[in-house]
Amino acid sequence: MDFLDKLVLPQSAEHIELLHYILVLVLALFVPFISVVFGGAFASLQYGKKYKKTNNPYYKKLSKDVIEYVTVNNSVGVILGIVPLLTAMLIFAQLLHKTQIQTVGYIALSIVFIIVALFMIYTYRYSMMVSTVFDSVNPDSIKDKDAEDDYKKLKASSSYLKIKYGKSGLVFLFIGLWFYVAAITSAANFTNWDFPGFITALAAPKVLLNLLIFITFAFTLTNGAILFIHLYWNESKKDEDPEYTKFVKDIASRAGLKASVSLPFLILINLFSFSNTTLSGSVFVYTVVCIVLIFLAYHLFYMIQFKNDYRFSSFIFFVLIFASIAFIIKDQKAMTNATEIHSLTLSTEYDKILADLKGEGTVAALSGKEIYDVRCASCHRFEQKLVGPAHFDVLPKYVGNEPKLVAFIRNPVKVDPAFPPMPNPGLKPQEAEAVAKYLLDEFAKRK
Ligand code: HEC
Repeated sequence: MDFLDKLVLPQSAEHIELLHYILVLVLALFVPFISVVFGGAFASLQYGKKYKKTNNPYYKKLSKDVIEYVTVNNSVGVILGIVPLLTAMLIFAQLLHKTQIQTVGYIALSIVFIIVALFMIYTYRYSMMVSTVFDSVNPDSIKDKDAEDDYKKLKASSSYLKIKYGKSGLVFLFIGLWFYVAAITSAANFTNWDFPGFITALAAPKVLLNLLIFITFAFTLTNGAILFIHLYWNESKKDEDPEYTKFVKDIASRAGLKASVSLPFLILINLFSFSNTTLSGSVFVYTVVCIVLIFLAYHLFYMIQFKNDYRFSSFIFFVLIFASIAFIIKDQKAMTNATEIHSLTLSTEYDKILADLKGEGTVAALSGKEIYDVRCASCHRFEQKLVGPAHFDVLPKYVGNEPKLVAFIRNPVKVDPAFPPMPNPGLKPQEAEAVAKYLLDEFAKRK
């Protein structure tokens, strides 16, 4: 993603925070939509198959209704399926600027697969309407023998194409979602992401667990959406054929119950997979909120299934939408925690550029410790050697000789053959002085 990296400008600390909020916002649009498209396409194909087996016309009607409910129309597909993901890719490119992590590459691939998938699934929806037209024609009413043959051929091939588009769309969407989940998981586990291979990392246990959560959640939300749209939104449809409404209610609430039962458990495992640097109070709180909301949804499915109480059908959908938003915020909080040091590096660079632009040449606002944390701590610790030697081992020779230390920091020379040479950190004189003073003060304090 070199070309994206070149587009990126360093950001101020406030701007980086803002980017995290925008990311939550665009993903809150994208995730619920793409979830119901995936769950809906799967359910529609499944009910089509059931129709062939049982010949129950309700299955056929449901197969068509479901795909129409979840895809809404073409422009919604672009607005909710593609634009937010493109925005998310640009934001990730900013936040993860100058890192080696594969997040942006995953997002880019997921966009490609999802665009193809949406095209196919919308074609599936369209062919579904075409096949309804075919069904409504009575072949006996066709007088011409040739025309009747053509009619049969067309009908068969349109049905074949329909299923082909539906299935391929589902497979492409699955792969696209897998890349998407890998992107989010790698960003949320930024500090301890030790899966170097681009493709092999897709099989990392954390990614697979998150994929399982995503798919299970997609099925749950889809059934919530079917209940909401059919029982609540389309009041008129409900009265059209009460038998069919009962059929939809039964099928969707049972499927919703099945899908949601394992979710809280899976999300809990996900929580324990975070490392200490990533886990914080807010990550924990949002996870708990998400689990509670899913429990609630589970009970609402139960009420609809066994108590025939339709009032809950609108409730359930929104409860699940909120659950998905809580889950998204949780991942963003985790990413914010994991990339804290990196964000500091980026904003320090921004401050530097700003100071250079203003001609100040120095960043008065940064203390020695702040500069140290960002520019030195990646290679150094006080007590132990990391990339460079432990400060306690090398500082004694600089005690009482601060200028010598400043000189070394401003222009490192080769000292110890056991270490590689230290790269020049490129500090301004005042910055180097501040860091040197901080090191010696700290050394005096801790010894
Ligand atoms: C990319 C890694 C890296 C960064 C970043 C880095 N250092 Fe070093 N540092 C090293 C290495 C490696 C050595 C050992 C060099 C040698 O012995 O030749 C070293 C050595 C030192 C020494 C010992 C010099 C001596 O006389 O033995 C000091 C002091 C030091 N670094 C301070 C700093 C400070 C202050 C910063 C931040 C402004 C910093 N380093 C940033 C890698 C780094």
